[in-house]
Amino acid sequence: MAVRNYLGAFGHVVLDVIVTVPKLPDPNTSIQILDRRRYFGGTAGNLARAAGRLGVRTSLASFVGTDFPRDYRDALRDDGVDLRDLRRVRGASTPTSWIFSDRKGNQMAIIDQGPMKTATGMPLLRHSVRDVELVHLGTGRPEYYARVAEAATDLDRTVAFDPSQEIHYVYRPASFRSLLDRATYFFGNEAEIARAKRFVRATSTEGLLRHTEVVVATLGAKGSVVITREGRIRIPRVKPARVVDVTGAGDAYRAGFYAGLSRGYDLRRCGILAAAVASFVVEAKGTQTHLPTWPRVLRRARRHAAF
Ligand SMILES: Nc1ncnc2c1ncn2[C@@H]1O[C@H](COP(=O)(O)OP(=O)(O)OP(=O)(O)O)[C@@H](O)[C@H]1O
Ligand SMILES: [Mg+2]
Repeated sequence: MAVRNYLGAFGHVVLDVIVTVPKLPDPNTSIQILDRRRYFGGTAGNLARAAGRLGVRTSLASFVGTDFPRDYRDALRDDGVDLRDLRRVRGASTPTSWIFSDRKGNQMAIIDQGPMKTATGMPLLRHSVRDVELVHLGTGRPEYYARVAEAATDLDRTVAFDPSQEIHYVYRPASFRSLLDRATYFFGNEAEIARAKRFVRATSTEGLLRHTEVVVATLGAKGSVVITREGRIRIPRVKPARVVDVTGAGDAYRAGFYAGLSRGYDLRRCGILAAAVASFVVEAKGTQTHLPTWPRVLRRARRHAAF
């Protein structure tokens, strides 16, 4: 059967509620809010929507509640995301994170993972493995992803591993190593790469290449580096028009990277495209507020390479 999608994006789909208060309240006190906003989020939601808008045929694989809001579903569909594996779990609530922040920049977050907390025993979302070329394993339960990775390997699909911040509190060395061993690509920011090195007892980032083929390390405003057995490829950051909110830069970067891979570009160009997508996302508050189209990305990417 023909593979219908390029990308199968596994990870969280979350509603982020950002509440601004004059001061974070003490226990047993109440306070009135200044402002409340709801944003579409979650690592897989961010990645799938950004990739979909860039023309990457993407299947989103995640568990939400029966209360999953229509506007988020419509937004994903409008950007072309295949929603067959966005599973609504009966009796469950959609993953939600409430972020309280005061004017000094102090924050408190309360997170309800909803059905993602127990995803270990959930059915394998097979369409996002069988009918894709590349399976992206983002945030979520390691035991569940071990099953997904095994199915992907059996079908000869490429696996990318991107545990994101969960590498610090969800993974142990053994669960990390077994997924890394099945992955062709590993993504992480500086702290995540440092943790990955400790997990496999590598003294250099190149040491991770004993377990995976391509390591993509993002360095915030300093850019990124793509590391393979052939060497290191330095990728500059792409200059945004303004920097408003850097959250979601990582997911945007991955979407751009896949937009390049799916079109057959070399790793250097994939990195430049990735940085170009991220440069748009940092220009607005929210992780899906300012997602670019492919022609706009190309225009910025051409500052750094010919396309
Ligand atoms: N201030 C910035 N200006 C331009 N590009 C940026 C900036 N911050 C991040 N980027 C781009 O986004 C990429 C990913 O950023 P970063 O390394 O901060 O990811 P991250 O820590 O995973 O972020 P998050 O998890 O919040 O999305 C960088 O490699 C860079 O290309
Ligand atoms: Mg990140």
